[in-house]
Amino acid sequence: MFEVGFEGDLESYKRSGQKRSRSQKPMIGIGIIVASAVTLVCGQGPITTVSRTTVQTTASTIPGAPQPSGIPTITDPSSLVIPFIGTTNGGHVFPGATIPHGMIKAGMDTDSPGNHAGYDGDPKFNVTGFSQLHDSGTGGSIPLSNFKLFPFLQCSTFEKCPTTIANRKVLRRVLPDGSPDDFASPGYFSTNLTNSIRVELTATRRTALHRYTFPAGTTNPRLLVDITNDGQRSSTEPQMTLDPNTARVQGGASFAASFGPGRYKAFTCVDFKGVGYDLGKPTEYGVWLSNFPVRGTTDLLQVYYGFISEMGALFTFPPAPGGGPTSILVRVGVSFISASQACASAQEEIPDFDFEKVRANSRAQWNDLLGRIQVDTRGVEEETVKLFYSSLYRTHISPADYTGENPKWNSTEPYYDSLYCNWDTYRTLYPLMSLHDPVTLAKIVRGMIDIQKHEGWLPECRGATVMHFIQGGSNADPILAEFFVKFQKQAETLQVSATDLYDALLADAELQPPNWNLQGRQADLWKELGYIPHDMFFAGGANTKQVSRTLEHAFNDFTISQVARALGKTEDARKYLQRARNFINVWNPDITVPGGPGVVGMMQPRFANGTFNFTDPRHCSIHDPARATCFLNAANRDGFYEGSPIVYSQYVPQDTATLIELQGGPESFIARLNFIFDQDYFESTNEPSQQMPFMYHYANRPGLSTQRSRQVIAQFFNTSKNGLPGNDDSGKQPLLNTIHRN
Ligand SMILES: *[C@@H]1O[C@H](CO)[C@@H](O)[C@H](O)[C@H]1NC(C)=O
Ligand SMILES: *[C@@H]1O[C@H](CO)[C@@H](O)[C@H](O)[C@H]1NC(C)=O
Ligand SMILES: *[C@@H]1O[C@H](CO)[C@@H](O)[C@H](O)[C@H]1NC(C)=O
Ligand SMILES: *[C@@H]1O[C@H](CO)[C@@H](O)[C@H](O)[C@H]1NC(C)=O
Ligand SMILES: *[C@@H]1O[C@H](CO)[C@@H](O)[C@H](O)[C@H]1NC(C)=O
Ligand SMILES: *[C@@H]1O[C@H](CO)[C@@H](O)[C@H](O)[C@H]1NC(C)=O
Repeated sequence: MFEVGFEGDLESYKRSGQKRSRSQKPMIGIGIIVASAVTLVCGQGPITTVSRTTVQTTASTIPGAPQPSGIPTITDPSSLVIPFIGTTNGGHVFPGATIPHGMIKAGMDTDSPGNHAGYDGDPKFNVTGFSQLHDSGTGGSIPLSNFKLFPFLQCSTFEKCPTTIANRKVLRRVLPDGSPDDFASPGYFSTNLTNSIRVELTATRRTALHRYTFPAGTTNPRLLVDITNDGQRSSTEPQMTLDPNTARVQGGASFAASFGPGRYKAFTCVDFKGVGYDLGKPTEYGVWLSNFPVRGTTDLLQVYYGFISEMGALFTFPPAPGGGPTSILVRVGVSFISASQACASAQEEIPDFDFEKVRANSRAQWNDLLGRIQVDTRGVEEETVKLFYSSLYRTHISPADYTGENPKWNSTEPYYDSLYCNWDTYRTLYPLMSLHDPVTLAKIVRGMIDIQKHEGWLPECRGATVMHFIQGGSNADPILAEFFVKFQKQAETLQVSATDLYDALLADAELQPPNWNLQGRQADLWKELGYIPHDMFFAGGANTKQVSRTLEHAFNDFTISQVARALGKTEDARKYLQRARNFINVWNPDITVPGGPGVVGMMQPRFANGTFNFTDPRHCSIHDPARATCFLNAANRDGFYEGSPIVYSQYVPQDTATLIELQGGPESFIARLNFIFDQDYFESTNEPSQQMPFMYHYANRPGLSTQRSRQVIAQFFNTSKNGLPGNDDSGKQPLLNTIHRN
């Protein structure tokens, strides 16, 4: 069913750890996964002759399905996962404890300037706490990182404990090889601090379980709960009470979103338990404000809380009897609704504080999921196998299952959040997920449809329950279409309403939202002109990214046409297919690029009157004389988002056949792709480049796709902690080695 093309230097191909996969036909060969939104169209025919993918949904949903004979089954794929990949140099990967798509992501926070996911793999950065919520691989402002816990080995007195972030910092132990003494595996994280306190974390969906082990002889083990310091230090309206008998802390605050204008509320419920002894009452307790713990206080109202002060609870507990090490478990429930809901879900999910049980359950969930993709590892370097399963692991950290935690409306539908941006994931994560985790994909789709029903448009970018900024098109459309084209027959069983799904797509396509920076599209102009012009300003949103928005709307409409076709809505299918051709409206055939003889014609910004403006094709590339970035910015009037005109001139996933014609035929198309790679116009760190290694397929040269994608993986991805080229949101590329044949 799946096969990979091959051509080029066989020896170097072998040396890269790969085998020819012609010999392993029914298997998914190592690193070969069918994915990508472009699988909606296969072959190079005109877009009217689209063929469906032939995904075998049953095979992909049966864990432990029999392997072709002789191929060993990987039963504990978690052991092949290295969660620390991408935890330095801006990868922003979260390496802490979570279940697949868990709301709770319990992990270490550090004082690293790159601590978007809290952690930094460089041991020079201090630990500032262990918080409960994170995202992974994102840009924007630091998301989440709420409700940090912190252990104190010894303060001279309760009142002298240095409780602020700046004062309580502690370094990790460093191993002989220079790495920090941290360990992580799916569902579990541990570290040894330089003060000899060991910290371990595990998680269920909405509850974290921490274990703090103080060294033998500790007389006053102390634990701090921090209510106010999220990653951005943005809290307002804090509230907190503590119970002097049980040490239960309930609290919450309002915090700033990461990549949008909104704010969200989060709440926590914290309980303590001794390991092997009854903790009894705390010997000391109190609210701390800044660096002043106030012994005997139980309520925030008993101290003078000011704007952006730091605040929380501090306890001293009796040590374990006998003078040996003291271990204290801390169960931390979190809710976006209320502290009492956080208490209820914590009690439900972890009633007995059984750390090993929670850890084992979490790992079992990961093994079930990761084991659905079995690879033939014979003759393959272990590094390659680890890179594969680690990358697969990271595709299941976000989005997060916040079902039951949506503060905006009550619904019986699932609610997934931390979509961060569909723009980041529609090309890669969801097409992959559709192969081995269609049940979760169906839930995410249901959640998106439910959001559309309540907010009017499908979500695009969303974190911590609030809308974030749109980056390009309305890219829930390809995600819903990906699901529907592949699983139309199973949709009802999976509780996805075809009618609601189609209505949600039509809202994106036809209705202009009040603010297209946050949802939907600038639909009126799109319908009227067939492109987003460079020179028209309206109150409903920014006039930026005109060319990239045009290209994405064309692709988005193509995906809608595929759903219409599947539903037998012939007229609609024709209409949206027509709109899918609008990419041609921003193609200026006369543009050339310095150093690229034969590279003629580029996507360019266009005015409402039909004439073109000019943006240097090198704009936003490493060869840009102006050194522009094309990041999200209202003042950015050049027409492109996170990609050069050269990159966006390859972005017509729905109709590469026409693109090849525009670019002068297959030979010149291949020459252009080679130029893009050889001159480093390919941008491994940003999303719009992600489909390029595979485009040779459409010029009937699949072997070159294989070669190019192997090169990209070898050059930019490895298993070290700096093994990602930038934020991990741009595509989890080692999985995108996509070759598909019907
Ligand atoms: C770690 O904390 C110590 C003490 O506050 C400080 O001197 C040091 O600069 C911190 N390290 C970093 C990388 O900020
Ligand atoms: C921390 O120390 C304990 C024993 O003291 C050891 O078992 C563990 O491997 C160390 N490292 C981590 C990351 O937990
Ligand atoms: C959801 O239902 C609960 C219980 O009836 C109610 O207290 C709450 O206000 C509702 N929430 C919303 C956002 O409507
Ligand atoms: C088209 O519009 C642009 C920008 O508004 C303007 O500079 C240009 O002169 C116009 N061209 C024609 C032919 O009207
Ligand atoms: C044409 O493009 C340039 C460069 O991006 C931009 O500065 C200028 O405002 C555009 N012209 C119009 C009339 O919008
Ligand atoms: C690993 O990948 C990173 C990011 O692309 C790169 O900077 C680094 O050189 C690579 N390391 C090795 C040993 O290949």
